[in-house]
Amino acid sequence: MRRLRVRAGEALCGSVSVPGDKSISHRAVMLTSLAEGTSHIGGFLNAADCICTARAMMALGVAVRGLPGTELEIDGVGLRGLRVPAGPLDLGNSGTGMRLLLGVLAGQDLEAELVGDESLSGRPMDRIAVPLREMGASVIGRGERVLPPVTVRGGVLQGITYHTPMASAQVKSAVLLAGLNARGPTTVIEPARSRDHTERMVGAMGGVVETDGLAVTLTPGGHLSACDITVPGDFSSAAFILAAGRLVPGSRVVLEGVLLNETRTGLLEALELMGGAVSVSERREVAGEPVGNLTAEPAALAGAEVGGELIPLLIDEVPLLTVLATQAEGRTVIRDAAELRVKESDRLAVMAQVLSAMGAWVKERPDGLVIEGPTPLRGATVDSHGDHRVAMSACVAGLVAEGETVIEDTECIGTSFPGFVELMQELGAECVEEQV
Ligand code: S3P
Repeated sequence: MRRLRVRAGEALCGSVSVPGDKSISHRAVMLTSLAEGTSHIGGFLNAADCICTARAMMALGVAVRGLPGTELEIDGVGLRGLRVPAGPLDLGNSGTGMRLLLGVLAGQDLEAELVGDESLSGRPMDRIAVPLREMGASVIGRGERVLPPVTVRGGVLQGITYHTPMASAQVKSAVLLAGLNARGPTTVIEPARSRDHTERMVGAMGGVVETDGLAVTLTPGGHLSACDITVPGDFSSAAFILAAGRLVPGSRVVLEGVLLNETRTGLLEALELMGGAVSVSERREVAGEPVGNLTAEPAALAGAEVGGELIPLLIDEVPLLTVLATQAEGRTVIRDAAELRVKESDRLAVMAQVLSAMGAWVKERPDGLVIEGPTPLRGATVDSHGDHRVAMSACVAGLVAEGETVIEDTECIGTSFPGFVELMQELGAECVEEQV
């Protein structure tokens, strides 16, 4: 088990880049595996979650060269070319890996069992099983919520029109990926917009995908062409450094080459609502995705209402937003965020626990949190509950707390942000990880 010790210290200064985007890395491996020909992926997120996905594709008969590493070469097997795996496919901690892969496998003529760690084994797969069964696949898991291990038996699929009950890119993507091998078009209609990397990548590889408001339609036929993908820096990782730069007096941090897809950057909107935009420079396009540099400096924050359609656009940044809210003047209300309860941990309950232990004023609601600020935080010993985003959010809180903050169980940081601690140290943060 690893543990992180953090203290408030000097200002954070410097220019850094963060590892590749997790969502894009998962999709890049899966989609190039289904393409015709050899693809190259640069900037792949060489972290536990995405490595699990790459290894699963290898177990399904795809040649993936370059692991572990950030430069991969993948020989696609075509849309229906996956082979029966020799054993269960282990997706580790990764909900995205398991849910998207279920969509991929639903259209293959094979049966496979998907397993995960303790956290993933408690996460519902019914949201994926329901539409995939409607399309003609068999998806079996434990109980009504279809908890992992999950066995999927692919079949001849029929395209459907599916209204997702929640704005979830994982559900949308699983259905669209199954739709690649279905008869007739598949349409997914969401209650609010979620990240659109699957649509962009399928389109860039020659697939036919049209977006009309909240509806996305994939028309199958033809094949996906191999391509070269450069994965931009993960906004969701950059966000921790951005927030630290915002909160620690005297700081100035520049984050280079960060993904700025607007379905991901809701935190920038929230920060604007809280009084003070983050400056963005050198906007450019990389492999069909907008990218730019972000500069964070301290600014006064005010409490704000964050909910509705903004939530899916900052879904992974909510734990961090709660830390920012403790330092904002007035009340911050986060609502419509009940999805947070079925992430790697119950992020509403766990962040309420962590911040309360550090002296913040936090009230839990079924669909969110109410936080009153600003409160001086004090160091405490807190538990990440094995959740990488909780661990990193607690680290940011520790950088503005009085005394030492000890975060237990920080190995999980490696699932999405390898090198986080070293990068924080490089910027001048007082944090040390130790083995216990
Ligand atoms: C992801 C979608 C989000 C997000 C997750 C990655 C994706 O989950 O929380 O970290 O890559 O599609 P939901 O789609 O369940 O909201």
